[in-house]
Amino acid sequence: MAGISSDLRRRRWWRSTATRVLAGVATVAATATVLVTAPGADAAASTLGAAAAQSGRYFGTAIAGGRLSNSAYTTIAAREFNMVTAENEMKPDATEPNQNQFNFSAGDQIYNWAVSHGSRVRGHTLAWHAQQPGWMQNMGGSNLRNAMINHIQKVMAHYQGKLAYWDVVNEAFNEDGSRRSSNLQSTGNDWIEVAFRTARAADPSTKLCYNDYNIDNWSYGKTQGVYRMVQDFKSRGVPIDCVGLQAHFTGGSSVPGNFQQTISSFAALGVDVALTEVDVTNSNTSQYSALTQACMNVARCVGITVWGVRDSDSWRSSESPLLFDGNGNKKAAYNSVLNALNAGGTTTTPTTTPTGPTTPTTPTTPTTPTTPGGGSCTASLSAGQSWGDRYNLNVSVSGSSSWTVTMNVPSPARISSTWNVSATWPSSQVMVGTPNGSGNNFGVTIMANGNWNWPSVSCS
Ligand code: XIL
Repeated sequence: MAGISSDLRRRRWWRSTATRVLAGVATVAATATVLVTAPGADAAASTLGAAAAQSGRYFGTAIAGGRLSNSAYTTIAAREFNMVTAENEMKPDATEPNQNQFNFSAGDQIYNWAVSHGSRVRGHTLAWHAQQPGWMQNMGGSNLRNAMINHIQKVMAHYQGKLAYWDVVNEAFNEDGSRRSSNLQSTGNDWIEVAFRTARAADPSTKLCYNDYNIDNWSYGKTQGVYRMVQDFKSRGVPIDCVGLQAHFTGGSSVPGNFQQTISSFAALGVDVALTEVDVTNSNTSQYSALTQACMNVARCVGITVWGVRDSDSWRSSESPLLFDGNGNKKAAYNSVLNALNAGGTTTTPTTTPTGPTTPTTPTTPTTPTTPGGGSCTASLSAGQSWGDRYNLNVSVSGSSSWTVTMNVPSPARISSTWNVSATWPSSQVMVGTPNGSGNNFGVTIMANGNWNWPSVSCS
């Protein structure tokens, strides 16, 4: 959402291209990952989002719908951040206040604000013991299991194709690594995997995350409990794409010395890792820079979200834990985070090449971006912004105002968000778009996952 100069864009393009070419000539083993440290010699970016984007990461914040009318708040939020989490507005008590009656107005307000400022959105959260609507709180057994499944299906259908990540399950573990007792847990120990399987079927375009607090210290029981669950899910093919470390270093906790080991250990299971709700008591600068550095040092640490904009917006405002003071001034911690982001980080290009050198590849940018439509309409693709890990495409339809555009994304690339279109998903690689009232131009963000070939597109 921050203004990005063409010069900076060029430098980023060079950097991400160089990274991929370097990766292409490396000799690597089957499941190896090529690690490249971005040089960091360029002029520094001046906002958190732009600085993080240089290494393909995002920098986000929690947005409270009630504050969107405050221009001091929205000015900072729009300038600094390129990922948004609704602080409360997509939680079960907000989205399903009465059973099977859904209300998306507050969540949509935040979603629309975010995308209109060029930000992506993390969905938070679908299944949680807290902030359940009253009708759900006293439910149990198969009624609750079915209600959870229905909730996930309906909420994800509403946001289908729009969100980069969803926190499918939040805070399901005790401090000792056992499962937290809750009405959801009482429906059976398999409730978490049922939630994830339901979520994958509901929207294959979004990455599915498990999110929790106090899973920062690698030696801690809770960290180990969550790690074992993710390891088990990956080994059995239960769909999970990411782990969110809330990273609330407030209320007496602080960044552990082995924080990076925790992040890299989760990442080594084959999931993205994100710091999802960061705050630090009194914004201790060394802790803010240490947590940022830890993420920058791990290729699959995809981004950092702080839990609010100004100290006065924080759920723990008495601890003044954020990057802007109540007057909207940048704090010392802001600079320590910005510097760590600007210094560059480890990026990744996964490869499936067994052994031996591979041919260098460059991203495919078709010189004839227009694919003829199959019917009375034509859909044309043009390049939008691109980052180290993803790119935007603009789709322009001509010939009809009642079109159906089918986009087929080459595996393992995936569409991670869409705008100005009503999307359905016959499979994880195929999006079928129809007009949503915004006219004949729409857009998609595609996570390349190593494959930068553009999707095929047809119109009917
Ligand atoms: C908090 C919000 O910030 C508060 O406004 C609300 O009253 C309670 O929830 N873990 C989470 C977040 O996953 O959703 C919580 O957000 C903070 C702890």
